[in-house]
Amino acid sequence: TKLTFPFKVDIDFATGHVTAPAKVLTRRLSDLQGLFMDSAAYEQMLSRENPVLYDVYEIQVPEEAGHLASCTTVIYPGKVGKEYFFTKGHFHTIEETAEIYTCLRGEGYLLMMTRDGRSRAIKMTPGVSAYIPPYWAHRTLNCGGEPFVFYGVWPADAGHDYAAILDKGFKQRVMEVDGKPAVTE
Ligand code: F6R
Ligand code: ZN
Repeated sequence: TKLTFPFKVDIDFATGHVTAPAKVLTRRLSDLQGLFMDSAAYEQMLSRENPVLYDVYEIQVPEEAGHLASCTTVIYPGKVGKEYFFTKGHFHTIEETAEIYTCLRGEGYLLMMTRDGRSRAIKMTPGVSAYIPPYWAHRTLNCGGEPFVFYGVWPADAGHDYAAILDKGFKQRVMEVDGKPAVTE
């Protein structure tokens, strides 16, 4: 680990915006091809618009062991069919690395699963801080009517592995049933 100078950023809990040095990553509907359950609803929505599903504001540090990377993620409210907007979801490339997500605003779920088929869902509301253990893939979604904002911290060298999720998807889904979010297997 190279010597790095201490620094601070300011996080706006309402918008998730982070002051520099942050890198912004925007994910639109078209970036999540094949991931939503209702593919007809997906294609229909995409033929009309290509909304931003979420923004990630990453606080930049060297991607090396010893450093901690962190970011805010803002998932906007919305659904594809009956399924709430979600993140792509991933395993870490170095699978034995954990992560902590702390909810700052809104209402959502953190879905987690292992390669051998176990799964867990944690309801996220402001002040809830969830621990994602090593080896657990993770995806978040917004099941409320306002932006869902959370702050995540993970080992900076962990990396992202999206392939397994793009291939097999997530075990659990959260859909609107009778006007309320329901976690389905
Ligand atoms: C980092 C992490 C989060 C996500 C972000 C977007 O390890 O878990 O910063 O990267 O919430 O989700 P993905 O990366 O799945 O599109
Ligand atoms: Zn992660």
